[in-house]
Amino acid sequence: MRMRFVLLASLSVMTIHAIEPYGIPDPLVMENGKPVREAAQWPARRAETLALFESGVYGKSPALPPWEQCQAETLFDKEAFAGKGRLREVIIHFPPSGTPPLHLLIAYPKTGKPVPSFVGLNFMGNHAAIADSQVRLSPAWIPSRGVGVVDNRATEAARGTDAASWPFALAIERGYAMATLYHGDIDPDRPDWKEGVHAAFFAAGQMEPGAGEWAGLAAWAWALRIAGSYLMAQPEFDPRRVCLMGHSRNGKTALWAGAQDERFALVVSNQSGCGGAALSRAGRGEQLADINTRFPHWFTSRFHAYNGKEAELPVDQHQLLALIAPRPVLVCSAEEDLWADPQGEFEACVAASPVYRLLGTDGFGATALPPLGELVRTTIGYHIRPGKHAVTAEDWKVFLDFADARLLK
Ligand code: GCU
Repeated sequence: MRMRFVLLASLSVMTIHAIEPYGIPDPLVMENGKPVREAAQWPARRAETLALFESGVYGKSPALPPWEQCQAETLFDKEAFAGKGRLREVIIHFPPSGTPPLHLLIAYPKTGKPVPSFVGLNFMGNHAAIADSQVRLSPAWIPSRGVGVVDNRATEAARGTDAASWPFALAIERGYAMATLYHGDIDPDRPDWKEGVHAAFFAAGQMEPGAGEWAGLAAWAWALRIAGSYLMAQPEFDPRRVCLMGHSRNGKTALWAGAQDERFALVVSNQSGCGGAALSRAGRGEQLADINTRFPHWFTSRFHAYNGKEAELPVDQHQLLALIAPRPVLVCSAEEDLWADPQGEFEACVAASPVYRLLGTDGFGATALPPLGELVRTTIGYHIRPGKHAVTAEDWKVFLDFADARLLK
């Protein structure tokens, strides 16, 4: 057992004083203690790492429905953004019957060539991402903190209230499509298993996911992957350059979707923190007991058993980043967002680097937290900006710079 754990401080290139010796699992040692020394041995380690996250953290999802079994209907597709791009909304049905359909909102440039794209979940409904009366007002449950939300339902006043998080015109200007869907479409963000996608998979009499079965974040990740399938099947979007982006709880979700699904070219985690990019063992910011108490529906019940016992976790979050290897992953933090533990997010990048290097990439190029506003552009990227927990147009410029650097080479 001891063989499998490394002191982070013993990892090769880094400023030792910046990293504490947490005793996180070594991503390159098999569960049976055998070291992974060659790229050819990684798929086996990858498979067992993925299984550990499935069984102990997010819960195992049903197989993703093949795109041929899904149905997409375009609700509208019109010129927008002062003639520079188009705005489309589609409804996507997927098996089994009884599952709630997804609504995907896509802004894209008119280049005549397949464009790279970003897809991410939103917190408040597609109607909040842009002030446009044609976008469907989500009828789903919406958190009461949303502007224009009355009795947990959207009203007309909610249109465009989350537009600052979705700078569609910027993406278009930069040659990218930007797509978003509401996570509450597939599973409302509350501890209720009756109204979301899970119920369609329950056995007779089952009331909640069993231990090790998918919980809330995993269902959202599943929806993101279906949205990815849609983009990959359309001629306007380059199937080899579909990127995932998520902020906060949606950032945890984007990482889990990208870890499972190798079709995605690149993943951006914005301030995903606990259960996302931050090391659980670091012990700063949000702890497992905090997250599992406030959001009991996000992770599999097995994850709750590690509340206050982070040292016993079979995996830590650097291994989630490592599952994305060798594809580019960008971890973004905000200086004042201590709840998401910027240092722990940075350390996860350091600790995932050996896997990326084994697979022939440049890994992670920083040895200490970079200055505010300076983008680390290696295959594992990192950025920390001044300010608080949020995703803004300034953040999107960083995501697009990173994607340009990694995908347009
Ligand atoms: C809470 C939660 C975090 C989460 C965040 C968000 O703060 O504790 O884990 O990332 O909400 O999604 O905004």
